[in-house]
Amino acid sequence: MKVIVTGGAGYIGSHTVIELVNAGYEAVIFDDLSNSSASMISRIESITKKEIPFCKVDLSQSSECNDAFNDHKDASAVIHFAAFKSVPESVQYPSKYYKNNIGSLINITNCMDEFQIPLLVFSSSCTVYGDAQELPVKETSPMLPPNSPYGHSKQLGEYFLKNLSSVNSSQIKSIALRYFNPIGAHESGDIGELPNGIPNNLMPYITQTAAGVRQELSVYGDDYDTPDGTAIRDYIHVVDLAVAHVKALVYMRSDKSNQDYEIFNVGAGKGSSVMEVILSFERVSGISLNYKIAPRRDGDISSIYAESTHTKKTLDWSEQYDLDDMTRSAWIWEKKLRDL
Ligand code: NAD
Ligand code: WQD
Repeated sequence: MKVIVTGGAGYIGSHTVIELVNAGYEAVIFDDLSNSSASMISRIESITKKEIPFCKVDLSQSSECNDAFNDHKDASAVIHFAAFKSVPESVQYPSKYYKNNIGSLINITNCMDEFQIPLLVFSSSCTVYGDAQELPVKETSPMLPPNSPYGHSKQLGEYFLKNLSSVNSSQIKSIALRYFNPIGAHESGDIGELPNGIPNNLMPYITQTAAGVRQELSVYGDDYDTPDGTAIRDYIHVVDLAVAHVKALVYMRSDKSNQDYEIFNVGAGKGSSVMEVILSFERVSGISLNYKIAPRRDGDISSIYAESTHTKKTLDWSEQYDLDDMTRSAWIWEKKLRDL
């Protein structure tokens, strides 16, 4: 079975291509390399020992998107990662985010209908819950006002797929996976997260600080209403997240799946504070991290973690890795990248 993986050269996409190939699927990567590099394709190939077809295409351009699908119209499913993902950049350049994140999704679903490709897995995010008042958040928890154009683009993507599922003109069956905070890297240390410029996210900031690329980590706020005062998130190993996509495809093709649009949280269901992540990193690396307490970051919420029972039961998925595995693998990747 052939699966088109848009954004397959990126962080989560690359790990998912590996898990797809491991599970016996044929994966094709569609990516414009706007936030990744061609070397990622060869790294994936050396891990999987398979040639992975790659199509360099900007999916926000409808004719380019159409040509790429035309070359792979025998595909049975699409996993759609391709999007821009920086929260602060989206605040600065909202049109860039709406154009790519919504435009690409519309182009892709048009092509799927044209070429009769029936199954879609969409990358959504826990950001759609906003500043949720009741924790853990369930798939049925309300979507609150988003704190960024990026978050809004994910909410719109979900509404769009839901609406599409109810019209006769589209035959697409889709699943939105709401990722919590993916961190970590493949055990080989050959692929991992490679942010452009100064990282916004905690894990790459930690590993770059330990590697000497950044001088000091700022811990944004130690006055939250949490046990140690630092903010809580639901960190999930990127390989566990990748496996959830394979499980979603298996589920969609099974008799168990009888809805045209479904949503699943993908988190471990456990919150960890910023300080717990730092302590885990120090434990596994043996490095004493240079950090300081700084003011809260604008737009941050205090805590969020997933109710993941529905996902675990329905998709027959569960996380295999704990926080130390996540921080250890992130560090192995960073060291290999920097030749340390
Ligand atoms: P990433 O930037 O590493 O990967 C995205 C890939 O898509 C990149 O390789 C980029 O070059 C490609 N791309 C972007 N726009 C494109 C276009 N128009 N045409 C073709 N390719 C394009 O990001 P990631 O962390 O792997 O995230 C993947 C998806 O998961 C995104 O949709 C993101 O919003 C979502 N998500 C990420 C996180 C996270 O913390 N990383 C959390 C929740 C949801
Ligand atoms: C985690 C915690 C920070 C950096 C973002 C997006 C979200 C989703 C996942 C895509 C927070 C703290 C961070 C630093 C710090 N992405 N922190 N010092 O903000 O939970 O979620 O990525 O959908 O939409 O908003 O992740 O890794 O930036 O932060 O103290 O240098 O680490 O304040 O509490 P976040 P993050």
